[in-house]
Amino acid sequence: MTSAQFDFAPLLAPGLPPPAARWTGLARFSFVGGNNDPEQVPVEGLVAAIDAVLKREGRTLATYGLANGPQGYLRLREFLKAKLQRDAGIACSADDLLIVSGSLQALDLVNQTLLARGDTVIVEQESYQGALNRLGRLGVTAVGVPLDHEGLRMDALASALADLKQRGIRPKYIYTIPTVQNPTGTIMPEARRGELLKLSETYGVPIFEDDCYADLIWDGQRPPAIHAMSRTGNVIHIGSFSKSIAPALRVGFIVAPWAMLSRMLALKTDAGSGALEQMVLAEYCAPHFATHVPKLTRGLRAKLDTLMEALNEQFGTAAEFELPKGGIFLWVKLPEQVDTLKLYQAALAAGVSINPGPEWSTDKASSKSRLRLCFASPSHEQIREGVAVLAGVCRKEFGVPARSANVETGARTSI
Ligand SMILES: Cc1ncc(COP(=O)(O)O)c(C=O)c1O
Repeated sequence: MTSAQFDFAPLLAPGLPPPAARWTGLARFSFVGGNNDPEQVPVEGLVAAIDAVLKREGRTLATYGLANGPQGYLRLREFLKAKLQRDAGIACSADDLLIVSGSLQALDLVNQTLLARGDTVIVEQESYQGALNRLGRLGVTAVGVPLDHEGLRMDALASALADLKQRGIRPKYIYTIPTVQNPTGTIMPEARRGELLKLSETYGVPIFEDDCYADLIWDGQRPPAIHAMSRTGNVIHIGSFSKSIAPALRVGFIVAPWAMLSRMLALKTDAGSGALEQMVLAEYCAPHFATHVPKLTRGLRAKLDTLMEALNEQFGTAAEFELPKGGIFLWVKLPEQVDTLKLYQAALAAGVSINPGPEWSTDKASSKSRLRLCFASPSHEQIREGVAVLAGVCRKEFGVPARSANVETGARTSI
C-alpha cells in the first residue's frame, strides 16, 4: 500500500529563502570556502583541554549558560578580553563581549538589530559572500566602494557618503574587513583607519568591523583595530575562532557598546552558544594560542607559496594576483575572456571547486574573470594537482592559458 506524502508546501511561511541544496560532498580538489588546514588543528591539545575542563567544571553543564549568564563562558570572555587588548589594542571588559555561534551569527544579530527591508549599507566592493548574500535576502541595498592595496578607498567612500546624503539616505553601517580583507588579502593601515573613523563620525554612520582573519598575518604585525581607535563607541567589532583554531567549532564573538549588545542579546534566542566548544577553547587557548598561531601561519604561508608557484607554472602570465598579507585566500585575475561562473561549472565536473569572483563582489562585470582560491584546506600535493586540472579545464573552455607547465599545447598556436 502506498501512502501520499504529507504536503508542507501550502503551509510554508511567506518570504522564505529558496530551499537548500542537498550536500553532495567536497570536490577532490577543494579550493572553496573558509576551511582551514586539517593538519594544523591542534587535536592533542584540544583533547587534553576538554579532559581537564570537563573533570574540573563538567557539572556546570547542568545549568544553561554554564551559570555564567547569557553572554558566554566567562573564562573564554576573559581570554578574549586579554587577547584583544594585547593584539588589537581594544580595551574592553568581559561584559562588553558576547560569545556567538560563529561570526555568521554575529552578522545575523547585527543585521537583525539595525536593518529593515529597503535600507542601505556600505560595503567593500569585493567582500565576503556570506555578508553580501545576507543583505540581498534582507532586501537591503549594498553600495560597493572600491578597494586598493590598502583596503577601502577613502576618496571613494567620501563620495559615496556625500552622494547618499544628497539623496536623503543615511546608510545603516559601513561593513569592512580591514585586517586581511576577504577576498583581496589587504590590511588597512592605521592612518586610513583614522580617516575612516572621521568619515563615520561626520556622516553619523557606524562601522561594522569584521576582524576574523586578523590572527593570520605573515609578519604578525597588525594595526590597532578600528574599534580600539574610536573615541565615540561607533564601531561594532566581530571576530572568530574559525580561522585561528577550527571553523567547525562555531565560536565567534561581538564587542559592542551595551546599547547594541543588549539589543542583540534580546535577539539571540538559542539560550547560549555550544558550551563544550567554549570550554575547550578557553582551556586550550589561554596557555597555547600564542604559540599555535605563528605555527599555523607559517604552514599557511608555505601553502600559499605552493599555490603561487603552481599558478605561475600552469597559467604563466594568464593568472595575475597580489601577494595577500595573510589569511587563507588568493584573489586571482584571469584574462578577460574567462567567465569564472562558467569556469566554476566546468572545473567542478573535473573535480576542482573554486569560488567565482562575481559571488564575492558587488560589481559583477569587473569581477567576471576573477576567482578566489582557498589554499588552507588542500594539501600541497592537491594544490599542485588541482591547479594543473584547473588550467586544463580553463584552456579547453576559454583557450587560456595557451601554454602550461612550460609546454606549448598548440591549442591556440597551431598554424
Ligand atoms: C569575512 C568573514 N566573516 C565571517 C565569516 C564567518 O565565519 P564564522 O561564522 O565561521 O566565524 C567568514 C567565513 O569565512 C568570513 O570570511
